[in-house]
Parts: sequence; structure tokens; C-alpha cells
Amino acid sequence: MSPFELTRTLPEDATGAALRADVLQGLTRTPKTLPPKWFYDSRGSELFEEITRLPEYYPTRAEREILLARGSEIAARTRARTLVELGSGSSDKTRHLLDELTALQLYVPVDVSGSALTGAARSLLAERPGLRVHALIADFTAGLALPATPGPRLVAFLGGTIGNLLPAERAVFLASVRALLAPGDALLLGTDLVKDESVLVRAYDDAAGVTAAFNKNVLSVIDRELGADFDPRDFGHVALWDAENEWIEMRLRARRALTVKIPELDLVVHFQAGEEVRTEVSAKFRQDGVRTELSAAGMELTRWWTDEAGRFALSLATAV
Ligand code: AVJ
Repeated sequence: MSPFELTRTLPEDATGAALRADVLQGLTRTPKTLPPKWFYDSRGSELFEEITRLPEYYPTRAEREILLARGSEIAARTRARTLVELGSGSSDKTRHLLDELTALQLYVPVDVSGSALTGAARSLLAERPGLRVHALIADFTAGLALPATPGPRLVAFLGGTIGNLLPAERAVFLASVRALLAPGDALLLGTDLVKDESVLVRAYDDAAGVTAAFNKNVLSVIDRELGADFDPRDFGHVALWDAENEWIEMRLRARRALTVKIPELDLVVHFQAGEEVRTEVSAKFRQDGVRTELSAAGMELTRWWTDEAGRFALSLATAV
């Protein structure tokens, strides 16, 4: 058997249908919204990789620090034979974990981007002969189905991406993760933590303007996929801290009154000057909140690790 398999659990046009539904819904409501998952075409994925290297964007480095410091402890506690990684992207930080998981037989990266999956798998297999990789092209926010895999399994959801889900979506998502866990399996969850507002805002509004370009990229995606005539230059990048919800919001603000045509949706959208579209929520957490959300989904927080500076946390949880 080949050490690499790729399974598409999304029908070929599921992505297109979901994009159409999300854009139609999001741009006909008040206030307007667009879901963050549409940032990540190949250009958006490149921009995101660039964000992770910015001096202002600390989460990736903080999480890597924890994985390096705690990887062997995670391996000893989980003895994972299968690592399932949700939203694996380039699998870059995952290497630190893979290096430590000595009992690992199978790596199952799950991502909506097929190109990211194949690229990451190729270099991993070269580094780690004997490891099997079964990549899944799937939208993990839409319910999870996994192939039969050797246990114990470790399900990893890194990068703080859980913060891009709204609280109600997080509850549904965590319940679907819980449903994947057999006794002895574990969840490894990355969460960015509440901290000084200025540090948070800078991380989402960097001096070089990479996050602004990333934010506007969703408009280019809609132009290309749905034939729209958004001009990204008509919008400004906004990043603000919502202290009540404890989340960062990214928005796109119309610089003037605009009318945009979206032919594939038979839709014309009007923007008032200064009108904003919410494009991302990035929730920041505290240990109590993480414990409560895990517990509501039928899981127990068993370990909590942060980086030295206390900016980011990795949680280990098991099913109860
Ligand atoms: C996908 C969760 C890693 O919310 O911090 C980075 C995406 N958005 N800059 C985050 C993002 C703006 C990111 N994660």
C-alpha cells in the first residue's frame, strides 16, 4: 500500500456551493459579514504564512515554543498511534509533535486546501519513512467523519483557529470532536489568550500591511469565483478589540458609497460610505473558559501549558 492516500470528502462543487451560500447570506444581512474560511485560496494561504513570520504576530511562535517544550510530555501522555490534525495547512509546527510521537503509525491531516495537504505530505514522508499519511480534503466545521485508524488517537486543532468560530459554532464543533474520541484518545487544542489590547490589535494590524492584504483577499476570491467586481482598493482594513466578547474583529470598511455586482448570485450589493463587513472573529481565551467549553462538550481538561510569556495555551483533553 502506498504510504500516501488522499480522500476528498467534499463533492467537487461543495466548496463553490458553500461560498455562494455564505456570500449571499452574509452580504444581504445587516451588519454584513463574510466567514473567515474564504481567505484561504492559494494567495490567502501564502499571505497567512507571511503573517506567521511578522514581528507583531506572536501566536505561531508562542505555540511552537510550547510544542518544542512539551512535545515529549504530550507523546508520553497520549502514546498516540494516529495523529489527526484539523486545519493542518502546511503542517509546519506539527513536525515538532511528529518528531516526538514515537509510536505514531498514521498521520491524518485534514484541510480544505488539497494543495497544502499534498505539499506537506510529500516533505513529511521524505523525512519520516515508515509513516503512513492519509490526507483528507474536508471542511471540519461541517461534521467530521474519519477513516478507521489505529488507536490511541490524538486529535490536534492548533493555531488558535477555534477562536475563528463563534461561541455557538464552537459548541457544535467541540461536540463533533468529542464524538471522534474513543476511551484513551485525546484532543490537543491551541488557544490564543486574553492579553493587553495594544499587543492584540498590532498582531491583527501589522505595520507592513500583510494582514490588511490578507483581509482584502476575500474580495479577490469573490471576484474570481463569483464574477464580482469588488475593487479591494475601495476598502480599508479594520482590526478592533471587542472587550465584552474578548475577541478581535477584522472588518473591511467601504471608503465611499459603492455598488458591487455579483453575477453568479444575480445580486447587487450596496455599501454606504464607511459601512463595514465583518470578515473574522478571533476569540482570545482564559483557562476557565476553555475548561467550561470542553466540559460542555463532554471533555475534561487534563493539561494546560502556556509559553513562558503566557500568551498562548495548549490544552490536552480527554472524553468523559
Ligand atoms: C487562523 C487562527 C491562526 O485568528 O489569528 C491571522 C488567522 N487572521 N491574522 C488568527 C489570522 C488574521 C488566525 N488563525
